[in-house]
Amino acid sequence: MRINARFSHILFSQRPPLPSNCLNFCDLHCAKPLLLPRSPAICFLQSPCALLRKLGRQPIPSMFIFKKVADLRRHLNTRRRDGQTIGFVPTMGALHQGHASLIKQAAAESNATVCSIFVNPTQFNEANDLAKYPRTPEKDIQLLLECGCTVLFLPEVKEVYPDGELSTLEIDFGQLDQPMEGAHRPGHFAGVAQVVKRLLDIVQPDQLYMGQKDYQQFAIVQHMVQALQLPVKLTMCATVREADGLAMSSRNMRLSAEQRAIAPLVFKALRFAKDKVEQDGPTATVATAMQMLTVPGMEPEYFEIVDGRSLAPVASLADHERVVACTAVRLGDIRLIDNLVLK
Ligand code: PAJ
Repeated sequence: MRINARFSHILFSQRPPLPSNCLNFCDLHCAKPLLLPRSPAICFLQSPCALLRKLGRQPIPSMFIFKKVADLRRHLNTRRRDGQTIGFVPTMGALHQGHASLIKQAAAESNATVCSIFVNPTQFNEANDLAKYPRTPEKDIQLLLECGCTVLFLPEVKEVYPDGELSTLEIDFGQLDQPMEGAHRPGHFAGVAQVVKRLLDIVQPDQLYMGQKDYQQFAIVQHMVQALQLPVKLTMCATVREADGLAMSSRNMRLSAEQRAIAPLVFKALRFAKDKVEQDGPTATVATAMQMLTVPGMEPEYFEIVDGRSLAPVASLADHERVVACTAVRLGDIRLIDNLVLK
């Protein structure tokens, strides 16, 4: 019990609420390498296996938490020297089952699974969006433990940007960063590319897992990996949705009950596009989809039917191997994006 108190003191400013399976969470204890008194730089969460076995419960896995680049690097170097492969899932936290699917795939395909939680200031083009971005560290840690994550990187801004947030990374993304999110969120993809490159330099993973949910972001990162010949295999993971089709997103938790009730329209419009585009053609389909998304409380920013590689709008499906419908809507000050492969 003393150990628990110590753990909650170390990692959280206040004791986290106890989940129903509290044995799994509260009996976590800190083992070596333990923290440095004033700054909780490293933490090792380990389930008390012997006790759990005695109680007839499955021991849950353990996880290292690093806040400092140097500590993380040292740890991963040791694992690499032992011949372990490293799978990496970068996130901004407020984790949900969409993130969980990436972590689980990484855990199934790598020896060590690293997740980063870092709300990257350089990719937010609206100060309000950054300030209101949800932060749920206690819940995130629990979900990561359940998904088989073995290393969590939880850096402060100055760890990722020791020389300030100005980017020195210059990559020509061609047309990839111009349309859709690029047009509506100036500077967003420069910030994404900058942070993903920095995180890749720090973690040096064998595999990088990213979601289809952010299709254009995936295309940007894929382009960067190819342009810089980064030695990492990039894998796209399918979008995880709520039962009513709403793509899971950290921003969903900010929706009011009224907003949550109309949010599934986004997936409905995408499904409509998939059903109708062959018959009606892209232009008419886009026009109807935009109408579908224009309801009280919701405003579409764009709905585009684009080539799956170049992200340029398509005039017909015939000449394209892969075609994707991408959309962004605003519900009050909350912005949701989604996409669906049409062909
Ligand atoms: P974040 O929005 O936290 O998403 C982290 C990863 O989870 C991304 O690769 C995203 O595409 C994926 N993801 C989010 N929702 C998903 C869902 N419903 N189904 C499947 N995958 C989903 O994307 C970012 O963070 C940041 O831009 C980041 C890449 C971490 C750079 O800061």
